[in-house]
Amino acid sequence: MNYLFRDTDLAARRLKVLADVYAPTSRAFLEAVVTNTPRVAVDLGCGPGYTTRLLAEVTACKRAVGIDASEYFLSLARQDAPEHISFLSHDVTQVPFPIEPSDLIFCRFLLTHLQDPQRIIKRWATQLGPRGLLLVEEVEWIESEHPALSTYLSIVAAMLEQQANQLYIGPALDAMPVGDGLQKRMSRVYRYPVSTKQAATMFSMNVPAWKNRPFLQEHYAPDMIEQLEQELHSLAETSTAEGEITWGMRQIAYERI
Ligand SMILES: C[S@@+](CC[C@H](N)C(=O)[O-])C[C@H]1O[C@@H](n2cnc3c(N)ncnc32)[C@H](O)[C@@H]1O
Repeated sequence: MNYLFRDTDLAARRLKVLADVYAPTSRAFLEAVVTNTPRVAVDLGCGPGYTTRLLAEVTACKRAVGIDASEYFLSLARQDAPEHISFLSHDVTQVPFPIEPSDLIFCRFLLTHLQDPQRIIKRWATQLGPRGLLLVEEVEWIESEHPALSTYLSIVAAMLEQQANQLYIGPALDAMPVGDGLQKRMSRVYRYPVSTKQAATMFSMNVPAWKNRPFLQEHYAPDMIEQLEQELHSLAETSTAEGEITWGMRQIAYERI
């Protein structure tokens, strides 16, 4: 697994902030497409399990299973997990998953970190039961004219691109041909404004994960990165601004036919 943002304690705390910030978009997505109660619902790249709990709550599934490759995130996810929510260690690019065919497979902010999403989606489709749903939620665009926020975004986009990933993977996913037993039931962009404080909190918690990578050192002056980090910290502490950054979340629902 070549997960850019790593699996440290800080990364886990960042995923908690991320879970709180994006819960409304995922909830809206799940409420729009899940009409039958799933027996087994799977959350791929579940991290510390916040999305798995949300999936379980919104769909009222009988059993929810979170899958991740990070033992550290899984150990956090398993703490106080109710009986109907469990967590498994597995590389999600490999099938079969170590569970029975699922009625619903969900992932958020995962395909952006994987290579060859088209091949991966085909593989995931094989893990669905009849008429099962595959729900994918990824970033289409992020709009911001705020200097520090937009600088951060351009650095992360460049870093992901350098390892053949895309920050803004939504358009490519939407344009991808669907075949092999799947049909697209919904594809939309959900517009989601985030406060500057929340965005800067997530961003500032992410900088330590990558600031010492060779790519950064080769392409950006160390002073500039340090200044950016300080500015993000200060926005995270003090900003009360709204309307300075908006996410477009691509939400795609495929159904197995
Ligand atoms: C950005 S986090 C997203 C976590 C969660 N889905 C959310 O939206 O809050 C991506 C997660 O995918 C996991 N991951 C990345 N590549 C993976 C792989 N090949 N197999 C399993 N998990 C993977 C990472 O460990 C991390 O927990």
